[in-house]
Amino acid sequence: MDSVDVTLDSVWPAELRTDRLHLRPVTSEDAPLVGQLLTDGRVRAYLGGPLPRERVAARQAAYSQTAGHWALVRVTDDQAVGLVSIGPDHRCEGRAEVSYQLLPSAWGNGLGREAVNAVVRWWSAVAPGGGPVIAVTQAANTRSRHLLESVGMVVLDEVTEHGARQCLYSPGGDEDDSDVRWVRLIASRLDEVERRRGAQARATVAGRRLPEDLAALSPEEMAQLCPASHGAYGRICARATDHAPDLHLGRAPDGEWIAWRTSRPV
Ligand SMILES: CC(C)(COP(=O)(O)OP(=O)(O)OC[C@H]1O[C@@H](n2cnc3c(N)ncnc32)[C@H](O)[C@@H]1OP(=O)(O)O)[C@@H](O)C(=O)NCCC(=O)NCCS
Repeated sequence: MDSVDVTLDSVWPAELRTDRLHLRPVTSEDAPLVGQLLTDGRVRAYLGGPLPRERVAARQAAYSQTAGHWALVRVTDDQAVGLVSIGPDHRCEGRAEVSYQLLPSAWGNGLGREAVNAVVRWWSAVAPGGGPVIAVTQAANTRSRHLLESVGMVVLDEVTEHGARQCLYSPGGDEDDSDVRWVRLIASRLDEVERRRGAQARATVAGRRLPEDLAALSPEEMAQLCPASHGAYGRICARATDHAPDLHLGRAPDGEWIAWRTSRPV
């Protein structure tokens, strides 16, 4: 599996069309749209609030220069009404994250749903080597959650980030698909006990205490906690034995229990 960046670069620039939208790469001419979205209190209500001017300028520049950012152009009037982005998920190596934001004037018409659906399908079809795709949204962001569920995505995991409960969504689908089996395993939380108690107990038995404050550990100390290379990206695998090649259960740098998938050799 290639990294998300490599896969994205190999298929970018990409244009997508839906019934009512034209998704085209963001250009420098979209700076006013980007600025409007990043400073709007309604759009930013579940995204940490409006951004200060200097951060807006940085993103205006970055969006048009980086693969994975589309402007959503409404075909009826040729107006750009929002953005959808896809890029590496910083929580999980080899996983892509899709995000989206529309001007409030365009809400309530199913345009967000149409765009996100197109991007999720495009990623699976055009970039199968790019790994699974997720979307992360605050648990309290009912519009966004409704959108994701309406395109067939299911809750994969929940974590606390930026001081708020966040839901990680991933596409549901064919039971034979290994990605989906993984999604279901997590979604159904069959491993809840293992994640919250058993993993810690096994690590203790093996003499590998899972510290509360992972951020205080050096990379060397992290590597010692696990015989495999699971300290990568600041995550600690809670399994002292029975490593699965793909599925890991452990703790993220913020101390949250987390499940992740990786193609790294273990
Ligand atoms: C999240 C966000 C894109 C959702 O926008 P939205 O317009 O509410 O979402 P949808 O595209 O799913 O449209 C929803 C409504 O459009 C209407 N709709 C659906 N399909 C339609 C169609 N084909 N024609 C007309 N209307 C339609 C329906 O009323 C639908 O609501 P319902 O499913 O309850 O019946 C928007 O709220 C937003 O930009 N929020 C700020 C950014 C954000 O929080 N992003 C999430 C984290 S990345």
